[in-house]
Amino acid sequence: MKNFNFQAGTKILFGKNKINELADEVLNYSNRILITYGQGSVVKSGLLDAVKNKLEEKGIFYKELSGIQPNPRLTSVKEGVQLCKDHNLGFILAVGGGSIIDATKAMAAGFSYDGDPWDFMLRKAVPENPLPLGSILTLAATGSEMNGGAVITNDATEEKLPMGSDLLRPKFSILDPTYTFSVNKYQSASGTVDIMSHIFEQYFTPDSGTEIQDCIAESILKTCIMYGPVVLEEPENYEARANLMWASSLALNGLTVTGKMMGDWSTHMIEHEVSAIYDLTHGVGLAIIFPHWMEYVLNERNAFKFARLGKNVFGIAEESEMDAAHKTIEAIRNFFTSLNMPAQLTEVDIPSDRIKEMGEKACKFGPIGYFKRLNAEAVTEILEMAK
Ligand code: NZQ
Ligand code: ZN
Repeated sequence: MKNFNFQAGTKILFGKNKINELADEVLNYSNRILITYGQGSVVKSGLLDAVKNKLEEKGIFYKELSGIQPNPRLTSVKEGVQLCKDHNLGFILAVGGGSIIDATKAMAAGFSYDGDPWDFMLRKAVPENPLPLGSILTLAATGSEMNGGAVITNDATEEKLPMGSDLLRPKFSILDPTYTFSVNKYQSASGTVDIMSHIFEQYFTPDSGTEIQDCIAESILKTCIMYGPVVLEEPENYEARANLMWASSLALNGLTVTGKMMGDWSTHMIEHEVSAIYDLTHGVGLAIIFPHWMEYVLNERNAFKFARLGKNVFGIAEESEMDAAHKTIEAIRNFFTSLNMPAQLTEVDIPSDRIKEMGEKACKFGPIGYFKRLNAEAVTEILEMAK
């Protein structure tokens, strides 16, 4: 196990009616805020009205920015920055899924930066002194509610790139599982795949001596496998929604990568290239690409890690590590399929004519991956397997 510092700076307010604590939390930072949300789910569910009531009760001034899209766009980020500047706002509250929280983080960073916020994605600038932000999560998936990462799409260049800073961790996040009751089957399944993928990215690394981290990772996977199918059939099952919601945060708040050099993240980088061009739902892209990545990187030296996952998570007991590894990948693909997720790009009408371009773009800053380094040709091969 390598040395590490771990500080998951976000205060989590978990459970029913935790919104009652919202206004006091906000007032720790400002009494003039921007509320950000998406394309209507929080209006329809009544959550937005509840938020406004809570703020008004304590005399908090707010402006609103609506219409943030899944795969959030740079244009929304710029709009948010302008609103904060024009109205002298001191805090941003994201109400929604990962896309809303991500856009909010980029706004918070952009507020204190004179240049184009896209510079953060191009690695030309790092966030300094961002506006504080908080979130009310409505979809269990990305972990954005408890980490400092954000992924933004630039329509003009067909790029989708990450940025990150500990300074962008939400100051607090309200996790009330009842807010996820209205998430449809497709997004619930996609969110479950995303949580599991975050675990895979940090489980499949060349590090050793991280038994505690790997056991936590396996528990989170088992939780997803137990409750993912339940929420598709019983969307208002509180315990299932609650377990997935906490799994979302724990899977990507830095916990399971402690003591390791870093995560692999190549599957995410590849998926981002696909959704940058085709506006695919993130978890759906991961459901397609991850099993192909696993088949591509599997070799005699790393088969033991796949076999370990298979044994501890799926109960696979093969004598040969290689046979167990193959069975494990098959079990993961079958689980995704059982959630009605596709297994190939053609199933979501993505043609193969731009695969080489996506391979090159995924490696625009150099080879990707830590479990196995991948160059543009390797990424192209994985996408060819996935087509
Ligand atoms: O826009 P609205 O109307 O709110 O509808 C959304 C959207 O259509 C809907 N939804 C959200 N909560 C709902 C709901 N519908 C009914 N009831 C509710 N309670 O779900 C749709 C998808 O929302 P979105 O926020 O896009 O989903 P998700 O949370 O999966 O976020 C995906 C984005 O996060 C990025 C992805 O790349 C993608 O852009 N990621 C961010 C990460 C991070 N910051 O750490 C890591 C992830 O790996 C990921 O890359
Ligand atoms: Zn993800």
